[in-house]
Amino acid sequence: MSTSDAPSPSPVSPGPVSSSNNRRQSGVDHAAAMDQMYRLTRHVYDLTRRYYLLGRDRLLERVVTSPTTATLEVGCGTARNLIKLAQRPGHGRLYGLDASHEMLETAGKSIEKTLGLAPGLATSAVASQPFSEKAGQEPIVLRQGLAEQLDAQRMFGRDEPFDTIFFSYCLSMIPTWPGAIDAAMANLRPGGHLLIVDFWDQKDLPGIFAAGLKRWLAMFHVHYRPEVHDAIVDLGTSGRGTVEFESVARRYAYIASIQKN
Ligand SMILES: C[S@@+](CC[C@H](N)C(=O)[O-])C[C@H]1O[C@@H](n2cnc3c(N)ncnc32)[C@H](O)[C@@H]1O
Repeated sequence: MSTSDAPSPSPVSPGPVSSSNNRRQSGVDHAAAMDQMYRLTRHVYDLTRRYYLLGRDRLLERVVTSPTTATLEVGCGTARNLIKLAQRPGHGRLYGLDASHEMLETAGKSIEKTLGLAPGLATSAVASQPFSEKAGQEPIVLRQGLAEQLDAQRMFGRDEPFDTIFFSYCLSMIPTWPGAIDAAMANLRPGGHLLIVDFWDQKDLPGIFAAGLKRWLAMFHVHYRPEVHDAIVDLGTSGRGTVEFESVARRYAYIASIQKN
C-alpha cells in the first residue's frame, strides 16, 4: 500500500495549507480546495447539514462496534458521526480521515466539547502527530489525508486492517473516487464492511425538486455520479464483496453495504 514517494506522517499545525499526508500536487490542490470550501461553513456545518444529509444515522446503525473493533470514517468532516459512535459503550478504536485541516480543527474542538477530552489530547489528534500507544487511549484519532491515498499503517500506525470503513456524503465530492473505493477495500479485513451513504438519483422524487437539488449541490462540488453506483455493484459481480443497497427517502440517497470477501 505504501509507495516510495509517500512521506511518513509529519506533524502539521491546523492551518490553511493542506499538505501533510498528500502525495501528489493534485492531492494538495484538492485538499486546499476543501479547506477553502469549509473555512467558514464548518462553523454552521452540523446545524445546517442535519436537514439534508439524510440517512447518516441509519448508516451508523449498521456499524458494528465492540471493544476490539477498529472503525474508520473517511471524510469525517466535523466528526459528527464518529462522536455518535464514541458515545456507545465499548466502541473500540475510532479513526477519522479528512482532506481538510479546517474541518479537522472543528472536529477536534467538537470532540473536546462533547466527549470532554483533555485539550492536549484533542490537539494532538488533530495535529497529525505520529501514532503512539498514547493515541490508542484517545476515543477518536484524526488524521489529515486523502481518501484515495488511505494507508492504515502510514497514516494511523495500524498493522491490522480496519473492521469497518465508512464514507458519509464524501464520495460525491471526490473526483478520483475509484481510487478512494479501492483504497478502502485494500485497508479492510476480509469479512469487514465498507458502508457508504450518499446522494442518489432522486428518481422517485418530483422532477423539479431533483433538478433544483442537483444544481444546488454542484455549487458545493457535490455530484451524483451514476458510475459510482455501478462501481459498487461491480464489487459484488466481480466477487470482491457482497453488496446490498437501501434507498433513503425515495432515492434521495442510498446506503450501500459491502462485505469484503
Ligand atoms: C459533505 S462533508 C461530510 C462530512 C461527514 N462525513 C458527515 O457526514 O457529516 C465531506 C467531507 O469529505 C472531505 N473530503 C472531500 N474530499 C476528500 C478526500 N479526497 N479525502 C478525504 N476527505 C475528503 C471534506 O473535506 C469534507 O469534510
